[in-house]
Amino acid sequence: MKKRSFLGASALALVAALGSTAVLAQDVFKVGLIVPMTGQQATTGKQIEAAVKLYMAQNGDTVAGKKIQLIVKDDTSIPDVTKRLAQELVVQDKVDVLAGMGITPSAFATAPIATQSKTPLVVMAAATSSITLSSPFIVRTSMTLPQTSSPLADWAAKNGIKKVVTLVSDYGPGIDAEKFFTARLTAAGGTVVESMRAPMRNPDFAPFLQKVRDLKPDALFVFVPSGAGAAVMKQFQERGMDKAGIKLIGTGDLTDDDQLNGMGDVALGVVTSMQYSAYHPSAKNKAFVAAFKKANGFRPNFFAVGGYDGMHVIYEGLKATKGQGGEALVNAMKNLKWESPRGPVSLDPETRDIVQNIYLSKVERKDGELYNVEFDVIKDVKDPGKAK
Ligand code: PHB
Repeated sequence: MKKRSFLGASALALVAALGSTAVLAQDVFKVGLIVPMTGQQATTGKQIEAAVKLYMAQNGDTVAGKKIQLIVKDDTSIPDVTKRLAQELVVQDKVDVLAGMGITPSAFATAPIATQSKTPLVVMAAATSSITLSSPFIVRTSMTLPQTSSPLADWAAKNGIKKVVTLVSDYGPGIDAEKFFTARLTAAGGTVVESMRAPMRNPDFAPFLQKVRDLKPDALFVFVPSGAGAAVMKQFQERGMDKAGIKLIGTGDLTDDDQLNGMGDVALGVVTSMQYSAYHPSAKNKAFVAAFKKANGFRPNFFAVGGYDGMHVIYEGLKATKGQGGEALVNAMKNLKWESPRGPVSLDPETRDIVQNIYLSKVERKDGELYNVEFDVIKDVKDPGKAK
């Protein structure tokens, strides 16, 4: 009798314990952030992690009654690693959202996992246009290369740049940039006299730049992924290209705020098109940059803003669904509109890509530091890669 009641009590205690764990698990909302923290793309991981943590510090870690738990994983920008980590996060950690994605191949490797497990995937960096087509569970808060490169072609054509050589990294975003820049420049009466593609991993730009010197175009258009811009700039200068009268233009990945201030005078005057500059003069951005610098000791770049806004869509999406994840969360996220440090933005519910201003900027020295200083804006640009 005594034994039975003892068992009964322990069974009850077990039920109570299980019950409370169940409630606890239900109240936790896990975000699995996969970014490159080491290797060639490490600056992207550093920027995104810092911004995600800043957003959480500023907005608290409880949303719609759920405690947000952030799990950060380093995929070293190797897509097989990204895939394995995404599988582990979904199966073992049971994350509610996957996020990050420093490069295009990582996003493509993760897309089928998001679809199969019905886990929303917030792409905060990778920028090949077709990524959002690879899973209905993807929303993207960075940009697409057609979106950033097309306005620059229009600007070039209007500013006496007729003959251009393009140099891009030989993978998804580079090919998008080459294709859309060329189509727009050609439509406006300009010509691309040579299209060059450099390897994505460990590129040596010297032989390409030598060829550009020989071709003597009005301008060289460059796309390289965040982190590679300083090497291009250094070799551009070493070959005396700036003095040979060849203008350097590109998407803002080239004059990335993470590296820009260390590039030196060779960067002065370089014209780029991008959705974000740390020098963007809005009150929202000034507060963001000040808080980011205070927390991290370095300047935020466009991917930091992709991470910050990525957390924003998770938080606001969760508020709208009252804490529900999965498909309901994707549906809530894709209808959001907000003010970002980059300016006014919204998600396009049809493509789940971000609609945003694209700014034309010129590198100038301001308060002793190099910045992309905006001089023109094309408002509310949708991804031209998805135009029907
Ligand atoms: C990409 O791999 O999609 C990517 C990476 C870095 C960039 C832009 C695009 O700056």
